Amino acid sequence: MAEAARAELPADKAERYSALRTEIAAVIAGEPNVTARYATAASLLAQAFPDRFFWTGFYVVDPDKQNELVVGPYQGTLGCLRIPFGKGVCGAAAAKRETILVPDVHAFPGHIACDSRSNSEIVTPVLDGSGALAAVLDVDSTAFDAFDAVDKAGLEAICGDLLTID
Ligand code: SME
Repeated sequence: MAEAARAELPADKAERYSALRTEIAAVIAGEPNVTARYATAASLLAQAFPDRFFWTGFYVVDPDKQNELVVGPYQGTLGCLRIPFGKGVCGAAAAKRETILVPDVHAFPGHIACDSRSNSEIVTPVLDGSGALAAVLDVDSTAFDAFDAVDKAGLEAICGDLLTID
């Protein structure tokens, strides 16, 4: 049975994202280490939506191979280690530098099935302070059509803060 989301978070989804954004920003403020920032966001997001977020984490741009993502901090079952730009949902979001919402991953050409229990997915780019792509945030659900415009707006706002808050 899925664990209940933390009681102190608002029940309304948009309000929950807003509270999470504030919480994540407060924890990462003053922290220069990027891995610590990604790990904080992955943990708090996964705990905030335990019934919908089956896999929550980051694929970062490999500094040694500019056209490949390598797995970063995540919460969930074993993820694939590397994803070339343009492959799967993560690689497509990295190549386009825009959020991709996939209601049925089995219908997405080239979808990479790290865990066959995932049925829908949302991937949001993370840009650094100069606007360069640094990573993507990938959230998978075991439910079909689990993500909507509220998730997109909430995750984009949080990703927008991750590398830009001092
Ligand atoms: N499904 C993703 C790969 C990453 S995992 O699901 C954790 C994709 O197609 O990019």
